[in-house]
Amino acid sequence: MKNINWEELVFSYTETDTVIRCHYADGKWGEPYATTDKTIQLHVAATVLQYGQAAFEGLKVFRGEDDQIRIFRMRANAERMQRSAGATYMAVPPVELFEQMCLMAVRENIDWVPPTITGATLYLRPVLFGTEPKLGVGPGHEYELVIIPSPIGPYYRGGFGKMTTFIVTRDVDRAAPRGLGPYKVGANYAASFRATEPAHAHGMDALFLDAKTKTYIDECGAANFIGIKDGVFVTPRSDSILPSVTNDSLRTLAEDLGIPVEVRPIALTELSEFQEAGACGTAAVISPIDKIIDADTGVIYNFGYAPGPVFTELYHALQDIQYGRREDVHGWNTIL
Ligand SMILES: Cc1ncc(COP(=O)(O)O)c(C=O)c1O
Repeated sequence: MKNINWEELVFSYTETDTVIRCHYADGKWGEPYATTDKTIQLHVAATVLQYGQAAFEGLKVFRGEDDQIRIFRMRANAERMQRSAGATYMAVPPVELFEQMCLMAVRENIDWVPPTITGATLYLRPVLFGTEPKLGVGPGHEYELVIIPSPIGPYYRGGFGKMTTFIVTRDVDRAAPRGLGPYKVGANYAASFRATEPAHAHGMDALFLDAKTKTYIDECGAANFIGIKDGVFVTPRSDSILPSVTNDSLRTLAEDLGIPVEVRPIALTELSEFQEAGACGTAAVISPIDKIIDADTGVIYNFGYAPGPVFTELYHALQDIQYGRREDVHGWNTIL
């Protein structure tokens, strides 16, 4: 293992030995390869720069107490990248290629998978973008898929417990229904910064409502909303949120634990009937929410000052699978 101070890692980029690259041209994918070069030569007229042909993914690699290395739900991320590629008219990477490249990234950078005890993990950031120079508006025919590994620190230093506050955003639409909302494409994030950056400046994050009616909960910053209402796990059904792999995993675990699950539109005003609220995603698993502020109406929805019992149980259940402490009955881990 590398001799670095794992304890000091946060969620930011740390350069590792290699990245894995693969180029698409002439209608086919080439051979993936590892390179120490983290820069690329890109034509200034490349379609990624002109028309935003870019998609990315994010998944984690865990070193268990048994010293086994597990990649969590690689296939689900591969399939989501395929959907993002299709939505932006890019070449669709085969699932097998995506998985092969993730495995190469981990094997090549195995010494960068942090020790269990630190709570840090190796994050994989796959990114796909258009490289063909093009001035006429239209998709290119050349693409690059890169897997960028980076060790990252635990989202919660000192354990699951830090609460997040959200502020309701009405003046920015993150994504349009039937637009790019359910895809993990760069443009959605650029579109969200106008709301998330001012919220971050106040130590909060932005809660987006549905673009059309501003009635229902959409995304929680760069995460899905989840809530507990009278013992039921409730999460939004919406065409403009990213289908989160974490959310899907938590719903499955909730059902395993006998917790009923509902996926349906959630009106903002219904939040007053929720006992627990949270944001879920790969980075934090669950970020429990203490309050959601609606500055336009003056209403504040409160969910307490500590993580609730249902989220606490689900958080530990999922982490136990990721670290190999609980049987992986759903076959989510790829063990190296
Ligand atoms: C907009 C958005 N929603 C939800 C999520 C959570 O998805 P996942 O659980 O697959 O990380 C992410 C993070 O990837 C995201 O960027």
